[in-house]
Amino acid sequence: MLKDINIVLGVTGGIAAYKACDVVSRFKKLGANIDVIMTKSATEMVNPHTFQVLSQNPVIVDTFTTPRYWDIEHISLAQKADVLLIAPATANIIGKVANGIADDMLSTTIMASTSKIIFAPAMNTKMYDNKIVQQNIEKLISLGYKFINPSSGRLACGDVGKGKLADVDNIVEVVKNIIKPNSDLEGKKILITAGPTRESIDPVRFITNHSSGKMGYSLAKAAFERGADVTLVSGPTQLSSPKGVKLINVNTTLEMYDAVMSNYKEQDIIIKSAAVSDYRPEIVSTNKIKKSDGNLNLTLVRNPDILKELGILKENRILIGFAAESQDVIQNAKSKISRKNLDFIVANNIKEEGAGFGSDTNIVQIINKNGEIEKIAKSNKIEIANRILDKVNEFFK
Ligand code: PMT
Repeated sequence: MLKDINIVLGVTGGIAAYKACDVVSRFKKLGANIDVIMTKSATEMVNPHTFQVLSQNPVIVDTFTTPRYWDIEHISLAQKADVLLIAPATANIIGKVANGIADDMLSTTIMASTSKIIFAPAMNTKMYDNKIVQQNIEKLISLGYKFINPSSGRLACGDVGKGKLADVDNIVEVVKNIIKPNSDLEGKKILITAGPTRESIDPVRFITNHSSGKMGYSLAKAAFERGADVTLVSGPTQLSSPKGVKLINVNTTLEMYDAVMSNYKEQDIIIKSAAVSDYRPEIVSTNKIKKSDGNLNLTLVRNPDILKELGILKENRILIGFAAESQDVIQNAKSKISRKNLDFIVANNIKEEGAGFGSDTNIVQIINKNGEIEKIAKSNKIEIANRILDKVNEFFK
């Protein structure tokens, strides 16, 4: 299923435009939201009303009559799209994009988009084989654009050769794999904790740490993309909720404890990447603490160790902890595996450049119960998250 996925379909003016109707209805049946942009020449082939009925969304037709409207609309569609599919894609649209021309709704949307862009070309064989078209395709591929090769056969113009729009089945499959490259966690329930906790001292101050939430949010995003049903319990962060994820916001360790404990039972996998405060002030002053000449002593009391408690209640669940260490990384991480009854732990040395708190990257060592260590060199947190989920998936094989 493609629930919560937004596809923007650009239809350009080839005879194969009628096949795009089938593409729309297939994605609708898979649960995706689909917005259609038609070039002016595409409307000569298929009536926009057909796409409107099939997509159940207004169709954007490029008539150049409402430039103010499309000027705003192309940005919002470009941002909204998880994937932008151009099917059929004529030599004209391929040429425009390859050469940085943005002069209508579709080409401006493509240009403004940072999502995955896929072209499914369809045109006359000789046009397709034309060196300029091939160079444009090569250029776009080298820039990261994806292509679904046309198939061979008898074309509408009577020629026989390559240039037929790829089978709709093939187009749908390629797009599905690009959106959800791996659905190995389909049907699995996963709870992830992320971010810091905040322990109030008074209405003004609190004790916290440097966690940005990026590691945990990357895990949540990657797990959702791999088909899992994701619950994310998050301390305060600046991040927006990953799509498709059930987000539970908390502040304190006790709130995180409650949220985890009321959700752990139905989970298959629990990953605790949050940086949790082990202590909280014994007394939270109701008023701002005023300074005086002497020192101020705060008494801190122990917070519950959420991961340790989960280790006791573990049963068949897969339980993964993180270890944020600044010394004796392996030794400290290994002792947490046994103390907290974990399947494995992800250790990061927070003193290393590009690892741990705040950065977009991490450098980790995954240590299992047998003490085996897998090192993952500096990579972005999404990549690290996927490597952790690969390990999780091995438990189900
Ligand atoms: O959020 P980012 O900026 O992306 O940074 C990522 C990170 C550095 C926070 C992350 O990679 C990480 O290391 N998270 C664990 C931080 C931590 O609290 O480690 P710890 O060694 O103190 O705790 C060990 C484990 O016990 C952790 O899984 C922690 O969530 C858990 N714990 C700790 C204390 C406590 N009272 N309850 C817990 O459940």
